Amino acid sequence: MTGDIDTGARHTGDMDPEAYRQAARRVADWTADYLRDIEDFPVLSQAAPGSVRRGLPGSPPEQGEPIDAVLADIDALLVPATTHWQSPGFMAYFASTGSAPGILGETIAAAFNVNAMLWRTAPAATELEQVTLDWLRQMVGLPRPLFGVINDTASSSTLYALAAAREAQTDLRIRELGMTGRPELPRLRYYASTEAHSSVEKAGIVLGAGRDGLRRIPVDERFRMDPVALRQAILEDMAAGIRPFAVVATAGTTSTTSVDPLPAIAALCEQHGLWLHVDAAYGGSAAIAPELRWVLEGAERADSIVINPHKWLFTPIDCSVLWTRRPDVLRDAFSIVPEYLTTTDGSEQDAPNLMDYGTSLGRRMRALKLWMVIRHFGTDALAQRIREHCEYASALARWVEAERDFELLAPAPLSVVCLRAHPPGLDDPGTLDSLNQRVVERINSAGRFFVSHTKLRGDYAIRVAFGNLRQDQRHVLGIIAALRGAIDDVG
Ligand SMILES: Cc1ncc(COP(=O)(O)O)c(C=O)c1O
Repeated sequence: MTGDIDTGARHTGDMDPEAYRQAARRVADWTADYLRDIEDFPVLSQAAPGSVRRGLPGSPPEQGEPIDAVLADIDALLVPATTHWQSPGFMAYFASTGSAPGILGETIAAAFNVNAMLWRTAPAATELEQVTLDWLRQMVGLPRPLFGVINDTASSSTLYALAAAREAQTDLRIRELGMTGRPELPRLRYYASTEAHSSVEKAGIVLGAGRDGLRRIPVDERFRMDPVALRQAILEDMAAGIRPFAVVATAGTTSTTSVDPLPAIAALCEQHGLWLHVDAAYGGSAAIAPELRWVLEGAERADSIVINPHKWLFTPIDCSVLWTRRPDVLRDAFSIVPEYLTTTDGSEQDAPNLMDYGTSLGRRMRALKLWMVIRHFGTDALAQRIREHCEYASALARWVEAERDFELLAPAPLSVVCLRAHPPGLDDPGTLDSLNQRVVERINSAGRFFVSHTKLRGDYAIRVAFGNLRQDQRHVLGIIAALRGAIDDVG
């Protein structure tokens, strides 16, 4: 390099603070209007596949563009091709509401833009995560000690929990030696109910247990894991020389929100030395309401638990909390510290390095939005919203039971109702399935609501999920009218 370094002021091309202030105000107005008008949009996007791709230039602009031009494209192209999870008419899958304090938390986290891989790279983010997850622990009534980290999704949290469960089989030395080319290794097996989420099965693929490594345990008439069948399966496998290493129990299954009998499953895990992971991704938040705390009864005996505040705690996606009573094992499963990341900042207790508890090195500051949600609402209001969502589900379930043309296909213990149209005399399973499929299509194409479906004991079921922060009684009456209207139209 020759010549002097130019130390004069240089224009970076970024917005200067004043330009940013103006643009941020525009964006704040845009988001406030979007949330205000959210019910004006069809909940399920009616866009044709490819519409966004065709509407945008295939190459990037050579010259920068003003924010107004970008916002105009967002309005013209992205809004119509968005399925509006923020809408109270969103009753599909599980709700995911980004509340205002959560959105503001995301904004500030993006401004900090820290990477919380080590305590020293983000002391505030690291410690805030610990404090916030201890608040959440108290909110759902779980005892100390419980170490928590925030991951992107429950799929990652469950994968990490099962990696720790595998690591707990120390004699197998899988972390060091792997699983291939080792004829001395026993086959590994873990257990979950037939209703457990597909992420539990996916973890087995990644961890080398394979899909066959997961044994699905039957459920009772209320879709809860049968602990007698679980015990039998464990004994059978052990007798066959297979090594059981974990059980995943679900508190709030994806289809029906059934809650597995955690105390009985915990007792079996303790007896056989198996890691118990509780998938409370959706259902765990219910425990914030004292009268719903039963959903986590027995989870205090689990080795690990996952709860997703981005599902039912009004925190923008993504935010999945993984707690463990055995952080040392989770760390043993993942910690590798190359020279450039070594530090002497303090104890694991005071200055944990969160990169040690999963596969990712880099981590976003996800705790800020959850902390801001909890501080804005307070625990009473959060419990009240959750309580209301369960009341809406009960009201819909009562209506279904009283209706001649509809029936419930599962109990509704929390905020989801599984039902179907079943007019008297129409009993052919195929005809009923296609009738209900048409009911769902009819409701979704009308735009005011978006519901999804599942299969229960082979039958097509309509799933109506409450849990959006903006829902109230009007939406209960609205979905009832939509169900009634749809069957009148297509029946
Ligand atoms: C019970 C349960 N566990 C896990 C998941 C996966 O969640 P994520 O999208 O955070 O991976 C879901 C998704 O709905 C779920 O219902």
